[in-house]
Amino acid sequence: MYTIGVIACIALATLACCSAVTASAASAARCFEDGIPPQRFANVVADGDVFPLGMAVGDWPVARLLSAVSEIIIEELLGVNVSSTISGGNSVDGFYAIAGCTRPSQVSDRGCGSKTTRMHIYLEAWVSLYRGEYDQIQQDFPETAPKSLGSSGYTGTQSMYLPKRILDFAINSEGVPLEFYRTYNSSWYEPSEYFDKLSAVNLSWLRPCRETRFVQSNNMQTYVQVTQDTEGVENIGGSLMAKCQDGFFWRAPACRDNVTRCVPVLTGGTGWEVEAVMQKATLFNMPLALGVATPERYYRIPTEVKSLFVWWAPDDTFVDLNPVELRFPRYDRAAWLNGDLRTAPEQVVIEKLVSQNIGELAPAVEDLVQKMRWSQDDVDIMLRDMKASEDPAHTVACRWLLANSETWSTWLAGETACFEGFGLFDGSSFVADRDGATELACRPCESGSYSEELRDTKGKTHICQKCPVGSCQPSGAAAGCDLCNEGEYQDEEGALDCKRCPLGRFQDEKGKSGCKLCSNGTTTLGLGSLSEQDCGCLPETIREVYNVSCQPCPEGLSCPVLSTLSSLLNGSAIAHELSPRIRAGYFSTAEEPLELFKCIPSTHCPGGPPNTCLGGLSALPCAACGEREYFDGQ
Ligand SMILES: *[C@@H]1O[C@H](CO)[C@@H](O)[C@H](O)[C@H]1NC(C)=O
Ligand SMILES: *[C@@H]1O[C@H](CO)[C@@H](O)[C@H](O)[C@H]1NC(C)=O
Ligand SMILES: *[C@@H]1O[C@H](CO)[C@@H](O)[C@H](O)[C@H]1NC(C)=O
Ligand SMILES: *[C@@H]1O[C@H](CO)[C@@H](O)[C@H](O)[C@H]1NC(C)=O
Ligand SMILES: *[C@@H]1O[C@H](CO)[C@@H](O)[C@H](O)[C@H]1NC(C)=O
Ligand SMILES: *[C@@H]1O[C@H](CO)[C@@H](O)[C@H](O)[C@H]1NC(C)=O
Ligand SMILES: *[C@@H]1O[C@H](CO)[C@@H](O)[C@H](O)[C@H]1NC(C)=O
Repeated sequence: MYTIGVIACIALATLACCSAVTASAASAARCFEDGIPPQRFANVVADGDVFPLGMAVGDWPVARLLSAVSEIIIEELLGVNVSSTISGGNSVDGFYAIAGCTRPSQVSDRGCGSKTTRMHIYLEAWVSLYRGEYDQIQQDFPETAPKSLGSSGYTGTQSMYLPKRILDFAINSEGVPLEFYRTYNSSWYEPSEYFDKLSAVNLSWLRPCRETRFVQSNNMQTYVQVTQDTEGVENIGGSLMAKCQDGFFWRAPACRDNVTRCVPVLTGGTGWEVEAVMQKATLFNMPLALGVATPERYYRIPTEVKSLFVWWAPDDTFVDLNPVELRFPRYDRAAWLNGDLRTAPEQVVIEKLVSQNIGELAPAVEDLVQKMRWSQDDVDIMLRDMKASEDPAHTVACRWLLANSETWSTWLAGETACFEGFGLFDGSSFVADRDGATELACRPCESGSYSEELRDTKGKTHICQKCPVGSCQPSGAAAGCDLCNEGEYQDEEGALDCKRCPLGRFQDEKGKSGCKLCSNGTTTLGLGSLSEQDCGCLPETIREVYNVSCQPCPEGLSCPVLSTLSSLLNGSAIAHELSPRIRAGYFSTAEEPLELFKCIPSTHCPGGPPNTCLGGLSALPCAACGEREYFDGQ
């Protein structure tokens, strides 16, 4: 739960004559002419300690830019002292920084365990890419784990890319489309022809596998579960890690035994995307060798070595290479949630994280961070400016602030002008208007609800509404609800997910509150049936064609559920066990398969499909049981 509107405990800085010496000239460069000067910044207090508000900053351009924008507003307009620290090259490092860990980017020992934290804000958090670790931190450090203040307004993707010149060379020389994952199937293709050999990468440019996400045992376990590639990992003291034959590159099965066939793939940070790249390489038979470059080298290798690389948007680091994203099968959310990462990556909502206590330390800052939102354009403008001017992030951020006051001014004023994804909250629950309660704030809508625009006398805001029946919403801060799919329904409001149609029912439309009943005498084989065609006869009945009623199964025939004349003749298309069978001792012809005869002696008729006689004789009447020797079962 959120605490809101609590005591403002920003300490007022004592303006002693001699304390201003500490404000160094470089960091004191002000952006706003009328901004609050550094010597008047207030620190925050907790447990008797006085310290600046801590901002953990991801070690990549967008994170540096947006953190600088926030720092300027927090210091110069809200007057709160901010201390920014680079936390590492992965969003996960930022999660740990907020959780109070002292060495957030050291994968092997992040120095966690403190019950307090001096890091309070972390922007550009790719939470859903690292959902497993984020949830684990919530469990492991309940007192300090970061909390999300929702979307930053734009989305991002992280994926594998290749430089356009390699793509063009392959397509122009041999018509090979290197942007498709299937072109890397090593049963057919030799993609390494278009890339440099692994030996072109000096191993001193890489981080040893054991210092990267290759050692995340849980993730490696998932890798084995999804791919069955037990050779790709090794067990080190009870914990699984990716097996790197040379200590630096993990090789996919397709080139594991012949390194000359490997295409180098470089990633950075502590190993962005290693899990997804490993799974794709193995499942799609791609001869990839994956290594994690050091921070200095990550930005250079793709320009020096013909290779694939992990990159993300928005970012302009490799803009000169015109990178082209590798195309994989369409994103499958359910599969990803299950740990199966073979489909394309999703468009990720980039979130803003804060410490749990920021509302007590600096409520105005929490309010601000909650309202901060950038469009994709805002981000691109700043990135282009930084690339062209080569100015530091702070300077670029200031230029953007001075030119875009209409964007950020709404972050500061209008406490009850809630953005999309948020809704009016009166301290204990979400409310539908801002007429009654005085203490209103904006909070992210919870799962099972969505944010709806509300226009009233004060202008535009948003309220949280429960998802209506027939729909659901698994994530928080959502702008709408997802209609239940075919085969599903939801009969309650405010649901996180939809239910599957029960046995005997189906649903062939989206967004329904119930399922349709199979017509009389029919049922479905399992849950979640999508159409009336899934309804078939009950056991011990059979029908001749679809859409006529089911008849009792004649004597001498065994009729499992969903029996039809076609499955008697041709076998069930669903499962072998669902084929109706003639019982031993009975016989029918292929022409009149439902007209059963009892054989005497019964041993001449083994049963099975119609027209089956002992010894493979198939003519009617069976030579083995002549006309006089069988009779109508009735
Ligand atoms: C702001 O914090 C810094 C440490 O990051 C400190 O050196 C400086 O004195 C603080 N400013 C004020 C006005 O307290
Ligand atoms: C690899 O890099 C190291 C350090 O930069 C250098 O000393 C070494 O000669 C390089 N090796 C090769 C094969 O280029
Ligand atoms: C390794 O692969 C290359 C390229 O396909 C091939 O020319 C070479 O014969 C292979 N070597 C072995 C030992 O299979
Ligand atoms: C790769 O090609 C082989 C041979 O055609 C095929 O059997 C296999 O299914 C392909 N693999 C993938 C992942 O498409
Ligand atoms: C369904 O079948 C049962 C018996 O087979 C019958 O009593 C009932 O009236 C039927 N219901 C409908 C809706 O046809
Ligand atoms: C099933 O039969 C009913 C009436 O007998 C008819 O209205 C309907 O169109 C039929 N459906 C199909 C799929 O043939
Ligand atoms: C069984 O299969 C044959 C050949 O595929 C087809 O001609 C026939 O129509 C099928 N019978 C039924 C009842 O579906």
